[in-house]
Amino acid sequence: MKYSLAKRFVSSVPGLRTFGARSFTSFPTSISPYVYRFMRASLFRDELKRLKTFEICFDKLAASGDVGDYLEFGVARGTSMISSHRYAKRHRFDDMRFFAFDSFAGLPSDEEQFTQGDMSYSQEEFSHFCKKAGVDLKRVTPVPGYFDSTLTDDMLTKLDIKPGRHLVHIDCDLYESTVVVLRFLEPILEEGAIIVFDDWHSFDYKKDPENWGEQRAFREWPSHDKFEKLAEHPEWNCAFIKTRT
Ligand SMILES: C[S@@+](CC[C@H](N)C(=O)[O-])C[C@H]1O[C@@H](n2cnc3c(N)ncnc32)[C@H](O)[C@@H]1O
Repeated sequence: MKYSLAKRFVSSVPGLRTFGARSFTSFPTSISPYVYRFMRASLFRDELKRLKTFEICFDKLAASGDVGDYLEFGVARGTSMISSHRYAKRHRFDDMRFFAFDSFAGLPSDEEQFTQGDMSYSQEEFSHFCKKAGVDLKRVTPVPGYFDSTLTDDMLTKLDIKPGRHLVHIDCDLYESTVVVLRFLEPILEEGAIIVFDDWHSFDYKKDPENWGEQRAFREWPSHDKFEKLAEHPEWNCAFIKTRT
């Protein structure tokens, strides 16, 4: 079962999620990071499943020495951004910058179980939530807008993102969004760069999951054969590392 009982209960009661998030953000910043960690480790343990993949990726980057930036496509309220920030701190990746790409208005279109406008959190909500969870906002650059208008070569120049061993987290659910992200990444991933697909198993209920969502986008991406699988959670995510140029 992908999600814990607690998570499914919270999602099934209208308004409970928002109430929980509001209650959490009302704690003073001096104690809110501890409250956040406690909630994650107790009630919302399902997060730990996808974090195993992150642990492997961060360890791999640490072993390789030369570490790039963290780029996340689809940040919503910041859950995975918060975890990555914590791992980066643990590994003392002090120069790692965090780029948060999102429309901050939810999904751009429908696709099977996903509906346009789902997971809509404003940039302010994202930043506030991250701050309360202990993220150093000085290291985070939000890039608001739909990917088809923000993910350009000019944006790479503007953000000063150069080719490197970046850690990329793709969590944007949709095939069409993932296609745009992968095209954007083409010039900046060096050998040793890692891509984590969060929604790798979202279409496992189909008889041909490889023809849907992130799996399809990756399979069709011309550079996919330069990557090897690094880690996978059977219900959740899958990580690939670039091994050839
Ligand atoms: C599943 S949520 C991300 C969850 C987040 N990583 C977390 O750990 O809580 C998917 C996000 O992708 C964003 N998204 C999907 N397609 C997009 C696109 N084409 N342009 C901009 N944002 C997009 C949505 O706005 C939404 O916030």
